[in-house]
Amino acid sequence: MSQLVDLVIFGGTGDLSTRKLFPALYKLHKHGLADPLQRIIATSRGDIDTDTFRSEAHSNLQTHLAAEDWDEAIWEQLCSRLHYVRLDAARSDDYQTLGNLLDENSADVRLFYLATLPSLYGTISAHLQAAGSVDEHSRIVLEKPLGHDLASCHQINLEVAKVFGEESTFRIDHYLGKETVQNLMAVRFGNPLFHPVWNNSFVDNVQITVAEAIGVEGRSGYYAKIGALRDMVQNHLLQVLSLVAMEPPASLEPFDVRDEKVKILRCLDPITVDNVKERTVRGRYEAGAVEGHAVSGFLEDAEYHEAEATETYVALKATISNWRWAGVPFYLRTGKRLSRRYSEIVIEFKKLPFSLFANDPNELTNKLVIRIQPEETISLHTLNKKPGLTQKLRLQPVELHLTEDPQQKGVSYDAYERLLLDAINGDQTLFMRRDEVETAWRWIDSVIAAWDEAGPPIKPYNSGTMGPGAATALVAVDGRNWYE
Ligand SMILES: NC(=O)c1ccc[n+]([C@@H]2O[C@H](COP(=O)([O-])OP(=O)(O)OC[C@H]3O[C@@H](n4cnc5c(N)ncnc54)[C@H](OP(=O)(O)O)[C@@H]3O)[C@@H](O)[C@H]2O)c1
Repeated sequence: MSQLVDLVIFGGTGDLSTRKLFPALYKLHKHGLADPLQRIIATSRGDIDTDTFRSEAHSNLQTHLAAEDWDEAIWEQLCSRLHYVRLDAARSDDYQTLGNLLDENSADVRLFYLATLPSLYGTISAHLQAAGSVDEHSRIVLEKPLGHDLASCHQINLEVAKVFGEESTFRIDHYLGKETVQNLMAVRFGNPLFHPVWNNSFVDNVQITVAEAIGVEGRSGYYAKIGALRDMVQNHLLQVLSLVAMEPPASLEPFDVRDEKVKILRCLDPITVDNVKERTVRGRYEAGAVEGHAVSGFLEDAEYHEAEATETYVALKATISNWRWAGVPFYLRTGKRLSRRYSEIVIEFKKLPFSLFANDPNELTNKLVIRIQPEETISLHTLNKKPGLTQKLRLQPVELHLTEDPQQKGVSYDAYERLLLDAINGDQTLFMRRDEVETAWRWIDSVIAAWDEAGPPIKPYNSGTMGPGAATALVAVDGRNWYE
């Protein structure tokens, strides 16, 4: 029988809770997966009671869920579990009311989800412990960003670890909750076809793109101090890179999978002052048009003096010094206000040593294309004969679809549903271990130190394009192109 869980959400009235966590909790109810939940207790400093919170949650959910997902009977189930406790995270006295509620009708597991400022993570952990609300079965979920460099990340981890052991700490990177990211492991480790070719003898290069069409919008104060490298590469892109590159784990248990991922992060060659100009490109969006709408530039959007030194785009060439990947470039890029929103991994295989066909040799590669968003698909790009009575045998590209888009099949789910469910069930596989996050920061710190000393200038790019021309050159000097 599954354990009963009390879920406490710090920051239960914030943007993340409203747009992602409560809709995900609603969906878990809808899919019949919420039985282990005994109570869901939202907290924040807002002076409201449980009835008001329930009525706000009711209307917010209707805003954020598709009309066809709404079912008043499902809402009633969720609503009966909802509670609200007013609590200022910095005030120890405020934890007593929460403690009293938790002690009434105690569940087997207390799951504390921190959807609030990371600067509060240590304080919240300490106050929960002082109030007697933490026991050996309690778990904590931490949202990103975990710090802005290795030192600050280490400090947060240290403070949380005084109260919660590593086996009880769930660090979120919502990319790991996405269906195709997990499917990457299934395709790679489930098919004998890919096993012999997943290495530097057969793979020419790997490209990971996370493109956003939006600008900084309401996050300009935060973003102006952070930039694309810290905001996106440190977590999402390096997590995806480590999943593509890791060795087959001993098992699919959390410890084994995360052991292999961290080994890859440890093997990333540092970016130094000697290679930073060849290995990295920084960009900043200017005014332009995205999806037919005129948009302003980052410096107008941000209005913070730090913004002048902040990149909204980064492209870089990472290399992994190990037996499997030596010599294979991993090109990573991410940016805001690009031509369209999509995330994709492309594994491009080497060309044949000699071609019998009359095509342009650049057309003749096999690629495994893993689309993470907006569609969730995996396809193998192969070649076959161009049909017809042509004089010379010519090839044409053919895409073999290895997955059906779950959105089209009506079985899609949001990453937060997956991750909440795993946290409720105590499965850490899709959460980042402390050494993974800190190793990723160590590598990012090396890039930032090299930028500070001898970094390439931040190049402007027009909103609605795919970034600065220098990013094309980063790949072109190696005789390659970005896959678009
Ligand atoms: N929003 C997203 O899409 C997103 C995506 C990924 C990660 N995250 C991360 O998730 C966390 C929350 O982000 P958010 O966008 O939801 O922020 P937000 O909209 O500013 O919400 C912050 C929440 O924390 C509460 N809060 C702030 N200070 C508090 C205090 N001293 N004591 C108690 N409650 C306090 C706020 O309520 P009161 O002010 O009323 O107390 C509010 O409920 C951040 O770490 C963020 O980086 C967010």
